Amino acid sequence: MRPAMPVYALIPGAFQVAARSFREGFAGQTMYAVKANHAAPVLDQVYAAGIKHFDVASIPEVKAVHERFPDAAMSFMAPVRLRGAAGEAHRSFGIRDFALDSDAELQTILRETGAHADKRIAQELTLYVRLSVPADGALLELASKFGAIVEDAALLLGAIVRHGARPALTFHVGSQCMKAEAYTRALAICGEVIARAGVTIAALDIGGGFPGYYRNVIVPPLTTYFDAINSGIRALNLPAGTLLHCEPGRALVADGLSLITQVMIRRDHTIFINDGIYGSLNEYALKNWPVRYPLRVFGPRPDGGIVEKQGKTELFKVFGPTCDTLDLLHYQLEIPAGIAADDWVVFDKLGAYSCALRTAFNGFFPDTFIETEAT
Ligand SMILES: Cc1ncc(COP(=O)(O)O)c(C=O)c1O
Repeated sequence: MRPAMPVYALIPGAFQVAARSFREGFAGQTMYAVKANHAAPVLDQVYAAGIKHFDVASIPEVKAVHERFPDAAMSFMAPVRLRGAAGEAHRSFGIRDFALDSDAELQTILRETGAHADKRIAQELTLYVRLSVPADGALLELASKFGAIVEDAALLLGAIVRHGARPALTFHVGSQCMKAEAYTRALAICGEVIARAGVTIAALDIGGGFPGYYRNVIVPPLTTYFDAINSGIRALNLPAGTLLHCEPGRALVADGLSLITQVMIRRDHTIFINDGIYGSLNEYALKNWPVRYPLRVFGPRPDGGIVEKQGKTELFKVFGPTCDTLDLLHYQLEIPAGIAADDWVVFDKLGAYSCALRTAFNGFFPDTFIETEAT
């Protein structure tokens, strides 16, 4: 293609491998957290890999899933929603699972679904109390925004039971979680909440946070996570029939997409490429983000073909395509020293939080997808 615009190369086999490792390793049902990548071609890959249950956080995500896969199940696991969203999800899309971490949100869900006035509606709801759990194992914590402490979570479980809905628990250890023990600790906190509330939970959702296997970060294999999780769940002695879920985003899609960018110009040890932090490379703008996505550089061969450039690497400052000086990757990249204008830089393992965060700033909106088996 010799593309001058960024191209997303989907690798179907990688989506299959990721879904299979959850199917084989996790003793419950896996949902896909749509936020990690809601692009239609990516949703199609995840669905084709056998994931038929989706964790959604907004009505547009609900619609995106429903339009493509009318038979898919959805759980609305954002603990705080826009006004009216719980009602619309329930009324128009049959969603019965909601997360919450406060009494205010519980009341909103009950009111908007009609469950406050009708016990039959309440009985069909599974309401997941989102717990606050330590996030020190993760590169991106979510604990400062969401999660009820043990005492409050126990009270919420009690309130859910009193309102006639099915009580459940959930947590999120933070994204790109580097330590399997984070899940075991979080599961132990679930045990404390259950004991304190004196309630039998109907479901437990252990959230997302499973890592991508990038450069510069050393993480145990997924099987280590599943072993820790499965033993943490066993220790809870949950009654048979308790539904178990997880809702990974990153781990289901990271490996399935490579981003092909082109070098627009080189100036000494600075390059401009045609995608950047306002596009698919937004995670390069995160604070203290040690991850480096594997990358490869390809250039033209004298006979008209294309060759991968190898050899000595050096550090390069990398600007994106917009007119904005802030459109700069916050970290220098180690790139083959011979990189030149018109070469292509391919970022691998870029399926998560890439397209999902792209903007149309300055008119640059990458949206070309291709499928490849090449890795
Ligand atoms: C409620 C919820 N579930 C799942 C995820 C997916 O997390 P990850 O991509 O780290 O697996 C997130 C990420 O923010 C989330 O907020």
